Amino acid sequence: MITKVKHICCIGAGYVGGPTMAVFADRCPDIQFYVVDHNKDRVDGWNSEDLSKLPIYEPGLKELVEKCRGKNLHFSTEVENYIPLSDMIFISVNTPTKNKGIGAGLASDLKWIEMSARQIAKYARSHTIVVEKSTLPVRTAELINTILQSNDSVNKNSNYKSFTVLSNPEFLSEGSAINDLLNPDRVLIGGNDEKSINELVAIYSNWVKKEKILKTNLWSSELSKLTANAFLAQRISSINSISGLCESTGADIKEVSLAVGTDSRIGDKFLNAGPGFGGSCFKKDILNLIYICEYYGLHEVAAYWRVVIDLNTWQQKRISNKIVEKLFGTISGKKIAIFGFSFKANTNDTRESPAINICKDLMEEGAELQIYDPRVNSEQIQKELDYPIKDLDNYYLGAGGWIYSENIYNSFIDADAAVFLTEWEEFRNINWKRVSELMRKPSWIFDTRFILDLNEAKDLGFNIWRVGLG
Ligand code: NAD
Ligand code: UGA
Repeated sequence: MITKVKHICCIGAGYVGGPTMAVFADRCPDIQFYVVDHNKDRVDGWNSEDLSKLPIYEPGLKELVEKCRGKNLHFSTEVENYIPLSDMIFISVNTPTKNKGIGAGLASDLKWIEMSARQIAKYARSHTIVVEKSTLPVRTAELINTILQSNDSVNKNSNYKSFTVLSNPEFLSEGSAINDLLNPDRVLIGGNDEKSINELVAIYSNWVKKEKILKTNLWSSELSKLTANAFLAQRISSINSISGLCESTGADIKEVSLAVGTDSRIGDKFLNAGPGFGGSCFKKDILNLIYICEYYGLHEVAAYWRVVIDLNTWQQKRISNKIVEKLFGTISGKKIAIFGFSFKANTNDTRESPAINICKDLMEEGAELQIYDPRVNSEQIQKELDYPIKDLDNYYLGAGGWIYSENIYNSFIDADAAVFLTEWEEFRNINWKRVSELMRKPSWIFDTRFILDLNEAKDLGFNIWRVGLG
C-alpha cells in the first residue's frame, strides 16, 4: 500500500513518542518524522551527541536513533514550525491522573491533550490526520474534534484546513518497547474516515502484517486500550493475592503459576507474583476506568476494578511489614540494602515503582537504606522518595534515611537485610560467599520477585524470604 503522507509530526518526546517515532523512521525511510516537545531538556537529550545521554533507556533504542537522527528523524521544541509541515500528527503527550478539581485522584488530566489539539488547530495549514497515541478516556476524540473544528481554527486562516481524528493506542511495554513496536501482537486503529484509516494502515504495512491491523470505531479503540491495561493489571493482582495464600499454606507460587498458566485458556503470561505492579499507566488507567464507570452509574463495575488497585497497595504494604516482622519486629537504625528502584527491569522509569512505597515504609520505621539500581541515578531516587539523603553531620540512629550505592557489593556492607525489588539480570549472578562476609548476621534476603537462585546462599546460612513461598 502506498501512502501520500510524507511528513509526520509527533507531539510528545516521552517514553512513547521517542521510541515509536524511532521505529517508524527506521521502517519508513521515505517519510520525515518530527518529534516535538515543549520540554527543552528532553529535546536536548534526544539531540545529544553522546547517545548514552538519550532521555530514555530502552534496549535497541540508541542504535535506531543513531541510524535515523538527522536523516528522517528530528527532535525539536518548535511545535509551531512542524505542525504546518505535517500531513499526519500523533498526539503522544502525558495523561496523568488529575490531582485537583473535579475527578481528582481518578480522572485523567487532559490538559496536555487539549493544549495539543489547540496547537494543531492553530498551526495546521491543510488537511491533517490527527492520531490519538496517548491513552485516553473513551470519547476523547469528540473533544479533540470539537476543538479542531471550532470556527476559530478552521475559518480565520486564509488557507483551507480540515481534520480527521483517529485513535491508534500504543501497547508497547517499557524495557521491550523496540521489540514490541517492531513485532506488535496487533495494531489497533479506530476511526470513521476510511481514507484516513487507510493512510495509517499503509504506514504500518511497511513492517506489520495486514492481519494484525484491527480496524474499529473510535470509541471501541479508546476503550480497548483501557480495558487491555486493566486486564493485565488484574492478572497481577490475582496472582499476588494467591502469593499471600501460598506463604500461609506451604504452596509454592511458581508451581501454582505454572500449573494454572499451562491451561491454554488462561495462558502463562503476566502470572509472576511480585511487589505489585508499578509504571505510569496501570494504576492511572484503572482509576480512569473507575471514573468513567462511576460517571455512567455503573457502581458495581467501578467497585470491581477498584479491588485490583487495593490488592496492589496491600501487596506492597505486606512486603514492608514482612521485612520488619522478620528482623525481630524493629528495623530502627538497621541498614537495609535495596536492589532495584525502577518499576521493572530494562528501564530507567521509576514512575509508580513499588520501590517507592516500600522504601518509604522502611524509612518511616527508622531503617537506613543503601539503594542500588543499574539505571536509576540518585537525583531520580531523591525526586521519587522526597526523603533527605542521609546527612551524616546531623544524623541520629533510627532517624531513617537513605544513601545511594554506586556499586552492587557496597550496598551489602553491614546490612541486616538485602531486599530485591526489580528483576535486573545482574542480580542473578551475585557472589553470595562474598556477600556473606559483608553483611551483619543474622543476614536476611528478601526476594520479592522470586528470581534469585538462592541454594548457595541457603547453604551459607542466609535467612531467606521469597514472595509466594515464604
Ligand atoms: P511522558 O511523560 O514520558 O511524555 C509525554 C511528553 O509530552 C512529555 O515530554 C511532555 O513534555 C510532552 N508534552 C505534553 N504536552 C505537550 C504539548 N502540548 N506540546 C509539546 N509537548 C508536550 O509520557 P509517556 O510515558 O510517553 O506516555 C504518553 C502517553 O502514552 C500517555 O497517555 C500514556 O498513558 C500512554 N502510554 C504510555 C506507555 C508507556 O510505556 N510509557 C505505553 C503505552 C501508552
Ligand atoms: C504496560 C502494558 O504491558 C503495555 O501493554 C501498555 O502499553 C503499557 O502498560 C502502558 O499503557 O503504559 P509497562 O507498564 O511498560 O506496560 O510494563 P509491564 O511489563 O506491563 O509491567 C507493569 C508492571 O507489572 C511492572 O511493575 C511489572 O514488574 C509488573 N508485573 C508484570 C508483575 O508484577 N508481574 C507480571 O507477571 C508482569
